[in-house]
Amino acid sequence: MKIGIIGYGSMGSMLAEGFIRTGTMPGDLFISNRTESKRQALQTKGIVACTYNRETAVAADILFLCVKPMEIKPVLEEIKSVLTPDKHLVSIAGSLKIACIEKYHSGAVSRIMPTLISSIGEGVTLMAHNHRVTGNALEKLVGGFSRIRNVPESEFEILSDLTSCAPGLFSVMMREFVRAAITHTTLDEKELAALVVETMYGTARLLKESGEPFDNIISRVATKGGATEAGAAVLEQGLPQVFGEMFRKTLERQADRAAAVEKEF
Ligand SMILES: NC(=O)c1ccc[n+]([C@@H]2O[C@H](COP(=O)([O-])OP(=O)(O)OC[C@H]3O[C@@H](n4cnc5c(N)ncnc54)[C@H](OP(=O)(O)O)[C@@H]3O)[C@@H](O)[C@H]2O)c1
Repeated sequence: MKIGIIGYGSMGSMLAEGFIRTGTMPGDLFISNRTESKRQALQTKGIVACTYNRETAVAADILFLCVKPMEIKPVLEEIKSVLTPDKHLVSIAGSLKIACIEKYHSGAVSRIMPTLISSIGEGVTLMAHNHRVTGNALEKLVGGFSRIRNVPESEFEILSDLTSCAPGLFSVMMREFVRAAITHTTLDEKELAALVVETMYGTARLLKESGEPFDNIISRVATKGGATEAGAAVLEQGLPQVFGEMFRKTLERQADRAAAVEKEF
């Protein structure tokens, strides 16, 4: 199977590297990118660098659109004449509905939401497909370096906050956790960050491997009258409002962006 990627930025390169790590031959990867310097870097890896997006689209059986949402329409305009119905089009663009792509392609269309942490083989990629997608070639391809969760397209916005945005959001939380501790210690920010990342990693592993709910871990650590109990009470009081506001903002931003993108189509 020939794989095409249009847009070799943060996510396009993450997918390309994931495909190669999990067995795709570099010569079966066809990639185009607006900036030439990034295309030159591809050739040294044995990947076929295409000058024009149309070349990528012609070569690909499955074609990943990895440009920003507002760039999708110009790219589709560019490649529409070579989009034969046998091709499988996969968009990773946030806020772009499958129906928009179907205006340009009568074949299989999927919308996926990858996550940066799949660059180390972790995390969940959300997927939704139109009725023309048959078989599981896409799941097998991306499933080599990420867990796959098929979800209704209507759930994409909120669930992508929990999977794709979350590495950024969790990093903010950890950074603030560290910064609030710094006035109470002689260790520097880097040393504190190392402790917190190790602890966050271990907590995630414990939750995952034990299958225990959050409340079990909380009650096992927050013993009656102890320091964790006091700290947890502060978080339980303040965080519902913070997270409520955070989701309100992220969903509002996604809705605004979806409206702007849809207007283009
Ligand atoms: N970042 C994330 O964590 C994340 C997660 C899930 C989904 N997404 C989605 O993934 C998509 C890409 O995001 P990103 O973070 O990878 O952005 P990015 O790093 O800016 O990459 C976009 C790439 O597309 C290229 N490009 C733009 N217009 C093009 C065109 N007409 N033809 C060919 N290439 C073109 C850009 O080329 P230049 O080198 O010229 O800029 C750039 O390399 C977005 O739609 C975003 O919603 C991102």
